[in-house]
Amino acid sequence: MEKTLVILKPSAIERGLVGQILTRFQQKGLTIVGMKMMQLDEKLLREHYAHLVDRAFFPWLLASMMATPVIVLCLKGRDAVRVVRLMTGATNGREALPGTIRGDFSLSGQENIVHASSSLEDAEVELKRFFADGEIYDWVPQSTPFLYAPDEA
Ligand code: PPS
Repeated sequence: MEKTLVILKPSAIERGLVGQILTRFQQKGLTIVGMKMMQLDEKLLREHYAHLVDRAFFPWLLASMMATPVIVLCLKGRDAVRVVRLMTGATNGREALPGTIRGDFSLSGQENIVHASSSLEDAEVELKRFFADGEIYDWVPQSTPFLYAPDEA
């Protein structure tokens, strides 16, 4: 089973969307195997968004991501990386399709509610960046036979 990282950004925290977003992931059948609130700092964000540090908007991105604590999630499921990216929608909320998290809750490229890992390789690196050893619980839900066929689980 794949694991992926989701960050509920300050835009989700401030706007009281945490419960609705968690509900969407749970309704889909994804398993929460890690979850915690944390205050991000500049050092961690410079590492996480290293490919964006030269962009003009980077100072705004930094301020936006440090505006409140965030909630980081580790979600587990079959093809979790791709499934979660489909659920989050396009980066810019104005381009994201209705029915996706950003499509339903965002009008912005910056205040776009969630971050989700873009590939399995990124997910592995990002999960190590945001979770310490022992903070991800690899439990298997009893409902697994009702979520997947035997060759999918
Ligand atoms: S790229 O190069 O623009 O395609 O970068 P990408 O990897 O998609 O990441 C974009 C992340 O930067 C955040 N951000 C913005 N993007 C575009 N324009 C503006 N003005 C902007 N401000 C912030 C955007 O929310 C993406 O963050 P994540 O956490 O990856 O969703």
